[in-house]
Amino acid sequence: MRLRRTLKNIAKSGQLAKVLVSGKWHITDAMIKTAQPVVARKIDGLEVFIYKDAQQVTERAANEMIAALKAAPEPKLGLATGGTFEPIYAAVAELAGKRDCSFSRATTFNLDEYVGLPPEDPQSYHHYMHHHFFSKVDMPTDREFLPDGMQVDPKRAAAEYDDLIGKNGGIDVQFLGLGVNGHIGFNEPKTPFDSRTHVVELTESTLQANSRYFQDRKMPTEAITMGIGTILESRRVVLVATGAAKAPIIRKIFEVEMTEEIPATALKGHPNAVILLDAASASEAFER
Ligand code: GLP
Repeated sequence: MRLRRTLKNIAKSGQLAKVLVSGKWHITDAMIKTAQPVVARKIDGLEVFIYKDAQQVTERAANEMIAALKAAPEPKLGLATGGTFEPIYAAVAELAGKRDCSFSRATTFNLDEYVGLPPEDPQSYHHYMHHHFFSKVDMPTDREFLPDGMQVDPKRAAAEYDDLIGKNGGIDVQFLGLGVNGHIGFNEPKTPFDSRTHVVELTESTLQANSRYFQDRKMPTEAITMGIGTILESRRVVLVATGAAKAPIIRKIFEVEMTEEIPATALKGHPNAVILLDAASASEAFER
């Protein structure tokens, strides 16, 4: 793949954001070979880092989590699920072991959970977190929080979850994946930016994207998700997206102003938001 040598000049001239919005970026061969991000720029108030591949994004995201762990005596981490985060949790567990980092004083709050799936269900996010992360680090089990999708009154469960985050002093660093429709957590398009943790009806796009995990049965159509307002109160937000399937939505996020049609654009209003991408997810904003 031949990559053109223009990004360096664009970056030097400080015109990167404009160039992206108006169409295309260029990456140089030299930049893409290094383990450094090929792009590191502030765009629409967002710190955007683009890496050569998903492996490098995974390493960066894992380092962010370890840094968050070390930055506070009693760190409060906001965690995400989805395929993007599976290798990240594996990398965090490995790094924590190597660097002798302990999760014993951490508290974690997950973004979301399906309504009606018990924690032992292999497709529940409780199960995902236990399998991919909690069982691999020294997290105290009574400090691992996820919304309770099994409560008789899911609305009440959502409100209680929001209160719990507040009572714990809020979240230091919230990690986010990205839905192909721009959702963060399970906040689907048109969710108000000031929403608190709530019950959500999943959209057709999300049902389709996530039905791959529910091959032999019908997937739940409702979930409890941290609200966008709740997410925005986190002191730092790190959104991670990898793979070509996310390329169209990544392009849109940078093309438009903040809009409730694309939940992830809410991060443009956050004072400390970081976006980590690989070349594939950034490919529609780039020209190769
Ligand atoms: C689910 C989760 C989201 C996550 C998204 C992306 O919908 N509720 O929080 O961001 O999946 O998943 P993946 O990383 O598999 O693309």
